[in-house]
Amino acid sequence: MLTATPIRPGAFSPRLCKRILVACLVFCAAGPTRCDNSFLVNAVPQNLNDFYQGLKDRAASCQHSLAGGFYSIDNGTNTTSYCTNDPHRPSIIYLSGDNGKLSNMDVDCDGVQGGSQDDGRCSLGRSPDYQDATAFQDIIQSYNVGISDLNTYVHPYVVFGNSGSRPGWRTFDPTDHGVRPLSIMAVVCPGNKMVYGVWGDTNGDDGDKPMVGEVSIALATACWGKNMTGDSGYDGMDVLYVAFTGEDAVPGKSGADWAAKDYDTFERSLQPLGDKLVQRMRAGAPGKKVTNLWVVAGGAIAGGLWLAL
Ligand SMILES: *[C@@H]1O[C@H](CO)[C@@H](O)[C@H](O)[C@H]1NC(C)=O
Ligand SMILES: *[C@@H]1O[C@H](CO)[C@@H](O)[C@H](O)[C@H]1NC(C)=O
Ligand SMILES: *[C@@H]1O[C@H](CO)[C@@H](O)[C@H](O)[C@H]1NC(C)=O
Repeated sequence: MLTATPIRPGAFSPRLCKRILVACLVFCAAGPTRCDNSFLVNAVPQNLNDFYQGLKDRAASCQHSLAGGFYSIDNGTNTTSYCTNDPHRPSIIYLSGDNGKLSNMDVDCDGVQGGSQDDGRCSLGRSPDYQDATAFQDIIQSYNVGISDLNTYVHPYVVFGNSGSRPGWRTFDPTDHGVRPLSIMAVVCPGNKMVYGVWGDTNGDDGDKPMVGEVSIALATACWGKNMTGDSGYDGMDVLYVAFTGEDAVPGKSGADWAAKDYDTFERSLQPLGDKLVQRMRAGAPGKKVTNLWVVAGGAIAGGLWLAL
């Protein structure tokens, strides 16, 4: 906790300035930050980063495919699969393409809109495939917390799983493998960014192809900023989506601030459970150990010298 110390005029010494600056730098460096007036985003924990790099380096790639034949890019190839660490007892399910490719990030505007963060980026004109309900709206309503559905501007939700009844259409139902609706997911964006989301919607068969790699505008904004809109997402193929199996990945009615009025408040409420789930992931994937220890040590020494002066 911070206690405010009254500052007398004239007491604002260079040393105090330095302390305040150092406190800000430490705060900005230590995990969740919003020092640039952007949406809250986390640094990627080491074990998750090793896993992510392992997939990109193709050291690990898709460990076990549960279902393949999905598209991340409309005019791309159908080489994206739902993968797991263990086909018999999956603890995570993630999307992976071939040759070190992961997924892109399209924007989903479905569900409720409005609120203080609705700046029109998901307005009807900009999201032609808008649907007024997300897949687990009934469960949200059963929580009885004062919201009727997820709000794309507030809730960082991930569209995961593919349904559809058209002949030959590829489908995948994560619940067949133990992932529960509205459970926490971890999304890694390049540039050392991780956002906790919830599994909040599924891909249908309304388009030409079974697509993957879509999130609410809140989540896309956390990763990329306000240039994300209903019709313009991120095209790189280096975003990782991880779902966690089991009941303990579900925050439930009281484990998250569903009625939060803004993204940061909701995101912060997912943090404790999200951290536990990521820690639980075995760092085991045979990826390269990327260590930033030297950077940290160098920074600490430089900082120490500067403080001592
Ligand atoms: C990918 O598409 C090709 C042709 O469009 C098809 O022959 C193949 O079966 C598809 N692969 C999967 C895994 O669905
Ligand atoms: C198709 O994909 C290429 C990259 O492979 C991209 O440059 C092009 O804009 C895409 N076209 C459409 C219509 O999306
Ligand atoms: C969005 O804008 C940021 C900074 O303005 C830029 O770094 C990023 O590449 C842009 N992202 C996309 C997907 O256009």
